[in-house]
Amino acid sequence: MLSDAIDRKAARKGMPKGAADKDAPLAGRVLALVFEKNSTRTRVSFDIAMRQLGGSVLFVEAGSSQLDRGESIADTARVLSRMVDGIMLRTDDHSRIEEMARHSFVPIINGLTKRSHPCQIVADLLTLVEHGKALPGLEIAWFGDGNNVLHSILEAAGLFKFNVRVAVPSGFEPEAEFVEKARAGGSSVIITSDAEAAALGADVLVTDTWISMGQTDAEEKRAAMKSFQVNASLMRKAKPDAVFLHCLPAHVGDEVSEDVFESEQSIVFDEAENRIHAQKSILLWAFGLL
Ligand code: CP
Ligand code: NVA
Repeated sequence: MLSDAIDRKAARKGMPKGAADKDAPLAGRVLALVFEKNSTRTRVSFDIAMRQLGGSVLFVEAGSSQLDRGESIADTARVLSRMVDGIMLRTDDHSRIEEMARHSFVPIINGLTKRSHPCQIVADLLTLVEHGKALPGLEIAWFGDGNNVLHSILEAAGLFKFNVRVAVPSGFEPEAEFVEKARAGGSSVIITSDAEAAALGADVLVTDTWISMGQTDAEEKRAAMKSFQVNASLMRKAKPDAVFLHCLPAHVGDEVSEDVFESEQSIVFDEAENRIHAQKSILLWAFGLL
């Protein structure tokens, strides 16, 4: 997926963003984008990715569909599978995407659940490779909340053999199953509440919002997260050529200070743009064309 994304990105350099790649490999295919939660990057990047691959999309917003009135995921999957060639779902409970996959006979893509956000991590790894980082042995340090994005980083760690230092307050650790999976794949995973120790000599510093979509325990959680902000003093502990990643949207002043967010080391907008190039390879893989 990563090498295909790099090749396709290079091959269309200079073309208008809405123009299709020369081979238009998904011509005639339509992808449904089903959103039960908000999105900017995921919705736009999947739409543009499908246009560049020669296909098209349609949006199904939960609030204006029968999902909001209680139609089951199973029936929605059975209906949509007859009408479209693939489905991307962004939802809250992971069980809903599993349910959709069980009842669908077209590919289902996870556009974020509260358990994981895999498409984001394909873009993140692509961005690191483009910035000259070799993934095996890379030291990635995560700060703040042990959330869906961290889970997907841990899933990738074992596959690509990079190491993860997780600096989180007690009670906000990632689920053990993701840590075990990374370790079983040969990665070193350290869980600590010492942010400086996690940053020391790291190649990549990553964080995410302290309060994810659908979470309500805001004040208590924000208080617990305060000493895990990625700021200039934390960045100085990392390698001099370390980079900063954030899936966005960012809450500057909370999980990241403005000086780090706006610094040369911050590659968050390359990361956001790469959502398009990553989605294209994910789609080709899902359609059995990679
Ligand atoms: N990073 C990301 O998934 O952004 P959106 O919520 O805007 O899609
Ligand atoms: N952890 C965040 C990621 C948003 C892209 C959330 O789930 O809201």
